[in-house]
Amino acid sequence: MLLKGARVIDPQVGIDGVMDVLVDGGLIAEVSEAVDAPEGCEVVDCAGKVLVPGLVDMHVHFRDPGFEYKEDIASGVRAATHGGFTDVATMPNTDPVTDTGTAVRYQIDRGADAGLTRVHPIGALTRGEDGESLAEIGDMVMEGACGFSDDGHGVQSAGMMRTCMEYVSQFDRAVIAHCEDESLTANGVVNEGRASTRLGMFGWPALGEELEVMRDIELCRLTGCPLHVAHISTARSLDLVRAAKAEGLPVTCEVTPHHLFLTEENITDSYNTNLKVNPPLRTRDDAEALVAGLADGSIDCVVSDHAPHAAHEKDCEFEIAYFGTVGLETTLPLMLTYLVDRGTVTWQRLVEVLAVAPRRILRLAPVAVEAGSAADLTLIDPEAAVTVTPEYFESKSKNSAFLGLHLKGAASDVVIGGKRVLEAGLVR
Ligand code: DOR
Repeated sequence: MLLKGARVIDPQVGIDGVMDVLVDGGLIAEVSEAVDAPEGCEVVDCAGKVLVPGLVDMHVHFRDPGFEYKEDIASGVRAATHGGFTDVATMPNTDPVTDTGTAVRYQIDRGADAGLTRVHPIGALTRGEDGESLAEIGDMVMEGACGFSDDGHGVQSAGMMRTCMEYVSQFDRAVIAHCEDESLTANGVVNEGRASTRLGMFGWPALGEELEVMRDIELCRLTGCPLHVAHISTARSLDLVRAAKAEGLPVTCEVTPHHLFLTEENITDSYNTNLKVNPPLRTRDDAEALVAGLADGSIDCVVSDHAPHAAHEKDCEFEIAYFGTVGLETTLPLMLTYLVDRGTVTWQRLVEVLAVAPRRILRLAPVAVEAGSAADLTLIDPEAAVTVTPEYFESKSKNSAFLGLHLKGAASDVVIGGKRVLEAGLVR
């Protein structure tokens, strides 16, 4: 297959220019200004589009096994492919929890069966995510776990977290920390402060996150285990990560589009439950600090925290609605519309936060737009018009915090192992 005339952007190899990319089998065979199509070669006209290393979303929830009515692996990878991702990492809060090698293998195999976006399971730190005893970490590494987390919950005991980090550090994997001190967040459903006061609902304070960020950075110092802070949501959490990085500690972090582009002010007396997320939407100052941190390199990657929930789990009182928004199919359009098109984030930085850094943090093989690399590529149409309606989604769930928006830019094609799985915006 010859991808002809795209603007190829890959900061790993210092490329930004109109190029032809020849794919042979599962690998990139040649990247240069003019490649002649060999006989019988499929030629894809990529004029006006941007070709980048395949995008990776390192924080998604597929609900398989256990809650397949919200999302199963087959529907999850369709959503991921539609969103432009060649790879995703799935969080372990399934039922049963992904805490054994068998459970990890199940997800990888079901993902492979679908033949779309690749699935890389993240294993649980503790059995059943109960925070009490260590899960089968070594067994899960053997089967292909790419990281470890009790996402959905913080590990409440510092001693238990220390044990997890000491153990995981032996396997060259990162601990991905959902930082939430439940003694502070308790019944909180929105940010503590103006939002909780205005709406008359229990608050989830910034400190509920920041205290665990501080603790886990200290545990990283003690154990040497790589620490990746999940869905960072406050300016102070970001400052803590910045300080840890400046000290040379192996600390990284991620941010979601909803924490970048929405604030507690978006929750009005219409009580839109799709805006109920964990951690909660924060203040405008927090969101601005996160955007600045993404642009200046302090935040390593952007993740969707794709959290599908069924209609009845959201169509209810705000207090009892489930936390979470779907995100796989809106991350790229949101990033393009609000950050790249406006010049706040460069295309190079977009590639770093959505393709390069997640592979590094998950210990996946690097993918670059150069001869010899795996042909895992995302082709982006910067002019594509996206209207976020329920019909837009391949996901089984429609609980998007961004419903109703008109966005500009989306993936038009996805190539995985040399095979085109998204073609002109349609999943094959
Ligand atoms: O909003 C969220 N939903 N945050 C989480 O940490 C978990 C997730 C879920 O599993 O629904």
